[in-house]
Amino acid sequence: MEYFAHQTAIVDAGARIGAGTKIWHFSHICSGSEIGENCVFGQNTMVADSVTIGSNVKVQNNVAIYAGVQIEDDVFLGPSCVLTNVTNPRSQVVRQSLYEKTLIRRGVTVGANATIICGVTLGRYAFIAAGAVVTRDVPDYGFVIGVPGKLKGWISRHGHPLGSPDPEGIMICPESGYRYKEVEPGGLACIDLPEEDPLPENLRTGQASYESFKGK
Ligand SMILES: CC(C)(COP(=O)(O)OP(=O)(O)OC[C@H]1O[C@@H](n2cnc3c(N)ncnc32)[C@H](O)[C@@H]1OP(=O)(O)O)[C@@H](O)C(=O)NCCC(=O)NCCS
Repeated sequence: MEYFAHQTAIVDAGARIGAGTKIWHFSHICSGSEIGENCVFGQNTMVADSVTIGSNVKVQNNVAIYAGVQIEDDVFLGPSCVLTNVTNPRSQVVRQSLYEKTLIRRGVTVGANATIICGVTLGRYAFIAAGAVVTRDVPDYGFVIGVPGKLKGWISRHGHPLGSPDPEGIMICPESGYRYKEVEPGGLACIDLPEEDPLPENLRTGQASYESFKGK
């Protein structure tokens, strides 16, 4: 199966795009980029030269992915979120050879209208709330809110904030039932499913609203 690009999208020669990926209206994929399988690029998105993007990545409308940004599998970039690649841009000073790296690891969600200041790593399954401004690295499963972004706590792979741990240090996702535990100061891991494993089929479709899980 080939990838699909809407007739108004521009895909430059040399871009490598995996099977099943869809590129929607008025988007631009630049020549040196590499994109995995089964991704979706919404309306008015842009992928710069030299950017690499994994598989099953969902990019909502109006997102530009600039040189210096690397995106792993299963990442969700919410509408109009902003990625950056120079900390101190000045129109009079050319810094095209100095783009700073930003690494967005497997399973991360960046909420609508959030801004990621370059040079940070967003750990696996980190969740950036809508409108947050991230200025520091975020650990795996870190849940960041606000301007400037602060680590509010932990969030599960299914996107539920995790409450206080039990006496054994365990926190349970109300949707999947998976158990999570701090593995080192400042880090979280899932006890029941390794971070690199795919979700089993029966946990890939939501069955109930976010609100219905709150407080459980
Ligand atoms: C952060 C989020 C997951 C909700 O988290 P939550 O812990 O369940 O938040 P609650 O709704 O219980 O609100 C708790 C507090 O956080 C505040 N809050 C919620 N979302 C916030 C956000 N994005 N930024 C700042 N504060 C936020 C609430 O106002 C509330 O404050 P209060 O206690 O002073 O009243 C959600 O608001 C969000 O930002 N989701 C991302 C949505 C998105 O961008 N989707 C992409 C396109 S579909």
